[in-house]
This record gives sequence, structure tokens and C-alpha cells, in this order.
Amino acid sequence: MAVQYFSPQTLLLTLSILLPLVRPFTVITSDSDVPSSALIDGPQPAFSTNQNGARTDPREQEAVYEIMRATGNDWATDISDVCRGRWHGIECMPDKENVQHVVSLSFGALSDDTAFPTCDPNRSYVSESITKLPHLRTLFFFRCFSNNPGRIPTFLGQLGPTLQTLVLRDNGFVGPIPSELGNLTRLRILDLHKNNLNGSIPVSLGRLTGLMSLDLSWNKLTGSIPGLSFPPLNVLDLSQNLLMGPIPSSIGGCQSLIKMDFSRNQLTGSIPDSISGLKDLILMDISYNRLSILLPATLKSLNSLQVLNLKGNPMATTSLPNNAFDGMRGLMFLILSNMNMHGSIPESIGRLSNLRVIYLDGNRFNGSIPNSFRNLRNLSELRLNDNQLSGPIPLERETVWRMKRKLRLHNNSGLCYNPNSGFEDGLDPSFSSGIGSCITPTPTPGSTRTVQP
Ligand SMILES: *[C@@H]1O[C@H](CO)[C@@H](O)[C@H](O)[C@H]1NC(C)=O
Ligand SMILES: *[C@@H]1O[C@H](CO)[C@@H](O)[C@H](O)[C@H]1NC(C)=O
Ligand SMILES: *[C@@H]1O[C@H](CO)[C@@H](O)[C@H](O)[C@H]1NC(C)=O
Ligand SMILES: *[C@@H]1O[C@H](CO)[C@@H](O)[C@H](O)[C@H]1NC(C)=O
Ligand SMILES: *[C@@H]1O[C@H](CO)[C@@H](O)[C@H](O)[C@H]1NC(C)=O
Ligand SMILES: *[C@@H]1O[C@H](CO)[C@@H](O)[C@H](O)[C@H]1NC(C)=O
Repeated sequence: MAVQYFSPQTLLLTLSILLPLVRPFTVITSDSDVPSSALIDGPQPAFSTNQNGARTDPREQEAVYEIMRATGNDWATDISDVCRGRWHGIECMPDKENVQHVVSLSFGALSDDTAFPTCDPNRSYVSESITKLPHLRTLFFFRCFSNNPGRIPTFLGQLGPTLQTLVLRDNGFVGPIPSELGNLTRLRILDLHKNNLNGSIPVSLGRLTGLMSLDLSWNKLTGSIPGLSFPPLNVLDLSQNLLMGPIPSSIGGCQSLIKMDFSRNQLTGSIPDSISGLKDLILMDISYNRLSILLPATLKSLNSLQVLNLKGNPMATTSLPNNAFDGMRGLMFLILSNMNMHGSIPESIGRLSNLRVIYLDGNRFNGSIPNSFRNLRNLSELRLNDNQLSGPIPLERETVWRMKRKLRLHNNSGLCYNPNSGFEDGLDPSFSSGIGSCITPTPTPGSTRTVQP
């Protein structure tokens, strides 16, 4: 069952990379409501017992040979019954007449644990024989066609009645996403990560209303994000493309969203109010876009949020309302670098006691660091450099010594530390240069804290 377990694990893996400190959670893809009622779930008799006579459907067997040849795996044609002599990467299930049907095919060396057949990168292609597998639920290709780039074949759309998982990661596919993929209406996982796909996201994908995970990241997709409203969707990753226009307000209809990553596109406009409907959202990354309008007041109702990354959006000279993040009790990562923010740092940030990482660098925050920051016991990384902050640093000695190079305070107007606070040698000179004790004149030009010796 390697493949059926694979996809949730990948999601988990992806999420645990992005959320290194977050407790793990699983995204479950159950096969329970599979339409092909003729198939019987359960242990496959194929391996041990051949007296019961289960044999692979001969047309599917021929199709598998073709698909294997097309990926340079000619060895498979020596196997007289592909469902019996099965290898990692093929899964079959018997029907009531005890005929074996292929339900899953996977290619590519994903990790040491998953020994799927590899592809000959120079000559592999997707064989149209795939359309002769009428029970196929999972199709997985990883790094198969990189040296022989082509388009995603439109015939994949013919797998509509059964296909639930389509993974074409890192294969060098060029050209558009075929609109025929919108015919795969039973799809739960669509993963086209890291190809060279261009053109816009087909509107037909809006028909895939059962999707739990949609990953189109690391392509060259243009145009705007179509209105997507997929109630079961957990993961939406459109990062690293060339998408333009606003975040559609229909996003609020994706009520189950856990991870939303639109980072590194060219999105404009503001964050829609409807975002407040995403009560399960854990990660929101819209960094490195061109979003320009103020954060919606509804943002603070994202009670599950643990990671908020808005870095590198030139929000037109905004100041942060003091209650901007008040509902985000679980917030661990707050990344607001290089956003052209001014005014004072909201004191309320110091009440988000789960915060581990705060980046407010490269803005024009002035005034002092709120005293409430002293309460952030779990803080392990703080960047306040390149602002106009002044006054004493309200952190405990332990916090400063623990963070070391992860505490960055340089290039501010006049930060200093109280004498006898034990800061001496705790501040790393590369990232907190020019900061001295609050009662001695600091050497920083323009310092506002000069007290007579
Ligand atoms: C694939 O082609 C490249 C040249 O394009 C060649 O160097 C390499 O050996 C080929 N690999 C295989 C497995 O045939
Ligand atoms: C599949 O999708 C295409 C384009 O979206 C459409 O023209 C075609 O009729 C569809 N085929 C089936 C069998 O639904
Ligand atoms: C997509 O890329 C191909 C080259 O790979 C190019 O010919 C085509 O014009 C591009 N299409 C769009 C819509 O950018
Ligand atoms: C700090 O993190 C630990 C888990 O590492 C957690 O149990 C604790 O509640 C956190 N402290 C605060 C003040 O949130
Ligand atoms: C911070 O800057 C604003 C102008 O952007 C100014 O009105 C305010 O007085 C400054 N506050 C402090 C404490 O310097
Ligand atoms: C100091 O920070 C400001 C932003 O507040 C930035 O514009 C400036 O380039 C920085 N100076 C240096 C020397 O990095």
C-alpha cells in the first residue's frame, strides 16, 4: 500500500519542513467512497496463493507493459503477471470475479524508502496506454521526463471516473496545464510542483471540488488566480509563479484550508475580508508579492494560525493597529519584514505568548520596543534591525544570550540596554552593532540616548 500512504506523508513532510516546530498532523485521504464498487478492498491474494486463480486483466497487463517500456523499464515485460510479480510502485485489486485490476502506478526514486521504478530520463514519456487502466486511482511520476520535456498529455483527462491522486512533481513539463484535467472530478490530490508550466490556471480546475491538496508551485504560471471554492481543500500552494491580480475572495469558501502559500508571485490588491472564514488555517504565506493595502480587520480572527508571513509586500506606509493579531493565540512565526510599516510596534504582540520567531526588520518602526516583549518566553529569533527604534531593550538576559546571532538590532536610532542587565557580550557584534549601555553615550551617530558621563 506504499502509494496510498505516500501522499499524506508528503503533505506531512512538506508541512513539517515549513512548520518545523509545529506538532505534526496528518491529512487523511481515505479511499472509502471509491466509486468502483466492483473492487474489493482487502489483502491481495496474488503473492502467495495462485491456486485461487486471480489473474491480471489481460488488457491492463498489456497497458502496463507499454507504460513500463515508455519509461525505459523494459524488464517488466518479462513478468508474466504484473499484479502477481508485483514491484513497489504497482498496486492491484481483485474484483468479484477474481480478476486483478491495476489501481496505482508510481515512478521515480523519491527517497530511500520508496523504491519505485526509476525512469530513463533521456527517453521517457507518458504512454497513452494509461487510459487503458479503467480502475486507476493513483498516478505518480517524480523526475521522469526532465531530459525529454513535453506537455502534460491531455489524455490524462480521460481517467476522470477513477483517478484520485495525480502527482507529476519535478518532471520538466512545459506548456499549459491542460484544461482536460478539469475532467478529473474525483481528484483529491493534484500536484504539479516544479515543472515549467506556463499560461494561466485553467478555469476548468474549478470543477475539482473534492480536492484536498492542490500544489501548482514552482512553475511559470501567469494570469490571475481563478475563483476556487473547494470545501475539503487542506493545502493550496501556488507559490513561485508569475500570478497577478488579487487574491480572490472566493478563497473564503475553502473552509478546511490548513496551508495557504501564495508567496513569490506578483499579486496585487489587499487580503480579502473573506479570509476570516479560514478557521483551520495554520500557515499563511503571501510573502514577496505586490499587495499594497492595509491588513483587513478580520485577519485577527484566524485563531488557528501559527505561521504568518507577509514579508516583502510594500504596504503603502501603514501602521499596525494595536489589536492587529489579537485573535492569533497560537501564533509562532510572525514575519513582517520589508513592508514599509511605520509608527510604533504594537504592544499586543508581546501577549502572543507562543511566538518563537518575530521579524519586523526593514520597516520604519519608531519609538521603543514594547515592554510586553519581555513576556515572550519561547522567543528564539528576533529581528528588529533597520528600523528607527530607540530606548532600552526590554529583554531578559537569558533571552538575549539564548538568541545570540538570532537577535538582530543593528541600524536603529538609539537602542541601548540597561546597566547591570547582564547584556555584556550577549549581543552579537555583527547583528547588534552600536548598542551600548543606556547610561553611557553610545557611539552610534544620531543616537537619541546621550546622557552626561
Ligand atoms: C542522457 O543523455 C545525455 C546527453 O544528452 C548523456 O550524457 C547521458 O549519458 C544519457 N543518459 C543515459 C542514462 O542514457
Ligand atoms: C474534457 O475536458 C475538455 C476540456 O475541458 C472537454 O472539451 C471535453 O469534452 C471533456 N471530456 C469529457 C469526456 O468530459
Ligand atoms: C509557454 O512556453 C512556450 C515555450 O516553452 C512558448 O512557446 C509559449 O508561447 C508560452 N506560452 C505562454 C502563454 O506564455
Ligand atoms: C513554550 O513552548 C512550550 C513547548 O515547547 C510550551 O509547552 C509552552 O506552553 C510555551 N510557553 C508559552 C509561554 O507559550
Ligand atoms: C514616529 O513617527 C511618526 C511619523 O511617522 C511620528 O508622528 C511620531 O511622533 C514618531 N514617534 C516617536 C516616538 O518618535
Ligand atoms: C537602515 O535601515 C533603513 C530602513 O529603516 C534602510 O533604509 C537603510 O538602508 C539602513 N542602513 C544601512 C546602513 O543598512
